[in-house]
Amino acid sequence: MTSLVDAACDPITLFAGLSFQAEARASECLIAGDPFRRPTRAKDLPFIPLDRPLGPDRLASNSALVLHRLLFNAYETDLLFLPAARDAAEPDWDSFDAFYGPQSIACAQAARPRLEHLAFAGLEAEIDLAGKWSPALTLAYFQDFLAREQAASAEPEENDPLLASLLSAEDPQAVARHYLVQMAPDFLSEASAMARLSPGAYGPLQSALFNVLIDEYGAAVHAAKHSSLFETVMASVGLDPRPHAYWQFYQPGSLALVNYFHCLAANKGHFFRYLGALFYTEASLVNVTGRQSRALRRIFGKAIDTRYFDEHHHIDRHHSRMVLTRLIEPAIAAYGSRAIAGILRGFEELRLLQAAADRDLAAQINWAGQLRRNDPRVAGLIAAWRAGSGPGETFREVSDERSTTHIHPDDRLLLLETGSMDFFPLAGVNLALKAGDHLFIPQGRLHGSIVTAPECLYHQPILSPDVARTLA
Ligand SMILES: [Fe+2]
Ligand SMILES: [Fe+2]
Ligand SMILES: [Fe+2]
Repeated sequence: MTSLVDAACDPITLFAGLSFQAEARASECLIAGDPFRRPTRAKDLPFIPLDRPLGPDRLASNSALVLHRLLFNAYETDLLFLPAARDAAEPDWDSFDAFYGPQSIACAQAARPRLEHLAFAGLEAEIDLAGKWSPALTLAYFQDFLAREQAASAEPEENDPLLASLLSAEDPQAVARHYLVQMAPDFLSEASAMARLSPGAYGPLQSALFNVLIDEYGAAVHAAKHSSLFETVMASVGLDPRPHAYWQFYQPGSLALVNYFHCLAANKGHFFRYLGALFYTEASLVNVTGRQSRALRRIFGKAIDTRYFDEHHHIDRHHSRMVLTRLIEPAIAAYGSRAIAGILRGFEELRLLQAAADRDLAAQINWAGQLRRNDPRVAGLIAAWRAGSGPGETFREVSDERSTTHIHPDDRLLLLETGSMDFFPLAGVNLALKAGDHLFIPQGRLHGSIVTAPECLYHQPILSPDVARTLA
């Protein structure tokens, strides 16, 4: 058992205690214009198992959410953001100084190795790389993957379960905005992990990687930088493109994908794994971005600027071949089995993580996209709960009390006894609840709420898995 003294000295706890990660205030549902403010729900740390790494099956959990928020912040203390320049007032240098101050940097560096272990050490056990992987077999395996991804780009959008869930939602534009928000932690600072591999001296591989980086950075034309193209996508559908405006609504899977690249690029010993992961993402993006562009145009019509996706559909054909022929092939030729083992591992781990993140996002969209107040099926369960007083929790919160977005480990109902609250199941979606209103919150689903009356008394009856399945 961890003593209070141990907990106080624990690097993760120390890092989580920094003020920029403190609980969200009432005004911070959307965090506009402050890239340094990142509430993490650190108060849940005592309930998070820190003795075993997360497996992909635990990605849709509060543990994964908190740990990936912390890890993401640890990496980003190493990236440069500047405070918003304001017309009338001084930029917020206090937030800037706190985020990049010596205490923040020291705590981030101390916490990072353990956070990385907890976040990613569970992946290796899930992949099977048994057998003799010769150079020829490995390259044939990747060429086959590339050919299949390129062929799949012409398939209908509905063949992609995630895009199908967007297209079939009751309000496709609302869920599509949440879908775009999930890309923001990566795309608004795109290729920052790759830039970590620019320093050093490792021959032609370094220049080949830098060639990809130049493209990602728009060859120094800021409007062509891929992050700029993504800002344009967001603005065209009414989203705030400033970094981390939607911090509260990043799902754990979305953060995990960015963190994985930072982990591989920040730890130079993982260079070959980085190449495998890079090939997976460049090769699959050829396919994915073409379908994303078509699906988003179906949803938003001509209003959406899809150049980000169209550009990737084009340039990632080149990037995927470049990574294969100018990075992977020469790395294997020069470094043999060590390169093969690392490249295959990075490729398979990212594939696994991407699939888990897609499942997490599709589950969120399928729940929140169909969510409505006072479903008659829920009313019957509440009547049964009141009659039998089964398991549940009761809370009394006062006006403007804020819960940082979070995830429950169980299926539960939400029932307001008195007062009112706003409930947030997706970025940009607000359900106004009043006394007597109820809804269903499945385990694993990200949500937040804020009390809007002087006081609110509410119950959260917990459902058995069998009962919860009847609501799915
Ligand atoms: Fe890109
Ligand atoms: Fe690319
Ligand atoms: Fe909750």
